[in-house]
Amino acid sequence: MDVENTIEGIRNRIGKARRAGGTIGLVPTMGALHAGHRTLMAAGRAGCDYLVVSIFVNPTQFGPGEDYQAYPRTPAEDLAACEDAGADVVFAPGVGQMYPTEPLTTVSVSKLTETLCGRRRPGHLDGVCTVVAKLFNIVEPDRAWFGAKDYQQSVVVRRMVRDLNFPVEIVVEPTVREPDGLAVSSRNAYLTPEQRRQAPELYAALRAAENMITERQPPAEEIVAAVRGHISGKVVEGEIEYIQVVDPETLEDVETTDRPVVVALAVRLGKARLIDNVRVG
Ligand code: PAJ
Repeated sequence: MDVENTIEGIRNRIGKARRAGGTIGLVPTMGALHAGHRTLMAAGRAGCDYLVVSIFVNPTQFGPGEDYQAYPRTPAEDLAACEDAGADVVFAPGVGQMYPTEPLTTVSVSKLTETLCGRRRPGHLDGVCTVVAKLFNIVEPDRAWFGAKDYQQSVVVRRMVRDLNFPVEIVVEPTVREPDGLAVSSRNAYLTPEQRRQAPELYAALRAAENMITERQPPAEEIVAAVRGHISGKVVEGEIEYIQVVDPETLEDVETTDRPVVVALAVRLGKARLIDNVRVG
C-alpha cells in the first residue's frame, strides 16, 4: 500500500491506475478509523479496481467551539487498518496541501441543509460538500462510499453530485453498530463509562419508534414524543438537540408515517454529540 501526502503525488498514481484500465474508488474519511470505516473500505475494495482511502480532518467543517483540535488522530493505526482492508493508496494531505490559500469558493447545497444537523451546525455541511468536491476533483473516482449513519450528509452529497454533474456513483452503506446497538463513532471515545452505558438507549428509542410505525403508523408527533420520553427517562445526562421524522429524500418534516420516513436524532451526552437514525418503510 502506498501513502501520498500531496495532490500531485496522488494524481500521478491514480493516472497510472486509470491508464491501466482500472476503475477508481474513493472512501473519504477523517481518520480515527473504526468498524464503520472498515465496512466502507470492504465495500470499496469489492467495488473498484484501485481503492483510494482519504484521511483528512477537514477544518472547514468544524464550527467555532467544536472539537477540531480534540478530534481523535490515530495515524499509525489508520494506516494499518487501510492496509488490512486492501486499500491501494492512502491520501493523507496536510491542511496546507488542501487549503494553501484562504478558500474563497464554497460548495453549498440549499434546502436539504436547512434542517437536522445542518440547522444546528451552520456551515458544517458547506465544509463537507466543499472538501468532498475537492476530493472528487483530485481523485476523480468512478465510485465513492459513504455511511448511512450520517444520513443527511449522504443525501446532501448525492444532491451535490447530481446538481454539479460529478461523474461519480455514490454508494451508501448501512450504519455499523456496537453489539449493544450504539452506532460506532470516533466521538464515542468522549463518553464516560456511565454515559457509554446509557448511550445505546438512543438506538433503542429509534427501534421502538420503528416498531410503532410498522405496527400502526401513528402521526409523526407521537413518534417524536415517544422517542423524547424514552431518551429523557433513560439517558439522564442527555440533552436532546433534535428528534425529527423526515422524508428520506427531501428531508422535510412529515406529519404522517404511512409512507417511507427517516427518524433522526442528535443528542449531546457529556462531551460527545451523538447522532443516529433509522429508515422505516
Ligand atoms: P468520518 O466521520 O470519518 O466518516 C467517514 C465515513 O464513514 C462517512 O461516510 C460516515 O458516514 C461513515 N461512517 C461513520 N460512522 C459509521 C458507522 N457507524 N457505520 C457506517 N458508516 C459510518 O463523514 C466524514 O468523516 C467527513 O464528513 C467526510 C465525508 C470525510 C468529509 O470530510
